[in-house]
Amino acid sequence: MPLVTGGAILSAARAGKYGVGAFNTNNLEFTQAILETAEKLRSPVILQISEGARKYAGTENLAHLIADMASRVTVPVAIHQDHGSSLEICKSAIAAGFTSVMIDASHDPFEENVRITKEVVEYAHAHGVTVEAELGRLGGIEEHVNVSAEDAFLTDPEEAARFIELTGVDYLAIAIGTSHGAYKGKGRPFIDHARIEKIAALTPIPLVMHGASGVPQWLTDRFKASGGEIGEAAGIHDDDLKRSTQYGIAKVNIDTDLRLAFTTAVREVLLKNPAEFDPRKILTPAKEMMKEISAHRMQVLGSAGQA
Ligand code: G3H
Ligand code: 13P
Ligand code: ZN
Repeated sequence: MPLVTGGAILSAARAGKYGVGAFNTNNLEFTQAILETAEKLRSPVILQISEGARKYAGTENLAHLIADMASRVTVPVAIHQDHGSSLEICKSAIAAGFTSVMIDASHDPFEENVRITKEVVEYAHAHGVTVEAELGRLGGIEEHVNVSAEDAFLTDPEEAARFIELTGVDYLAIAIGTSHGAYKGKGRPFIDHARIEKIAALTPIPLVMHGASGVPQWLTDRFKASGGEIGEAAGIHDDDLKRSTQYGIAKVNIDTDLRLAFTTAVREVLLKNPAEFDPRKILTPAKEMMKEISAHRMQVLGSAGQA
């Protein structure tokens, strides 16, 4: 089917109390793994492209590839600009056919974040595209100890409500304790569920969790067993993820898990078959492992069976 907006997918998710995976893609194999899994599990899905992915693959190459592949699946698919740094980046994404953009001005002061986000919302809405913005700072919070430091860092509920009102943004990324990458804290990473609940009580728009990879132990064990080097990695537990969707998180960003799965599978094939140099034989297990990871996420989030 033709692409749909991120807003269409996410409004249904917030209303239905389930989450939709927004999986980062950089190439054919990631895109195939994500779309084939979504189709098999009847799950809506968002494929997101970072600025780095655009540089790596070429904006049009990647956007056109996804749009073409999505036209032949029967579940709703959106293409999203991940962490867009400027209005110009969002405009060029929209020109290439993205149906959802994120403007990330979360490092700017509140008023500046409002001003930039508003500009993007106006432009995107005029082109039929929906918008994500971010308020608060992601980052690792290892211990739930320093309330004042946390409050300065995490999204303030009243401020979030004001931001949404002032900008007209369609969905909002909130800082609730998660961070990007494979190191989300020692032991079980802290997620501020009460904060999600408070923010969700003040707005009906879908909320977004960045840094939502699970970094499962079995995966890091296999990564290490195949010669990979990784420290004390930790990700978001399945039940924390599930719980957050009950409170209002509708878009759940996953990149690290797919990267780890891809690289682990490639390492394993090359370790077992040093004579192998057919890229198709090397990349097929990588695709299979990424399918396994994305299927698990879609099941945990409750998006499986929704399309
Ligand atoms: O949040 C960032 C995503 O994981 C994308 O990472 O900028 O290295 O493509 P990237
Ligand atoms: P992870 O690093 O946890 O996969 O998060 C990805 C993300 O938030 C992309 O925007
Ligand atoms: Zn992110």
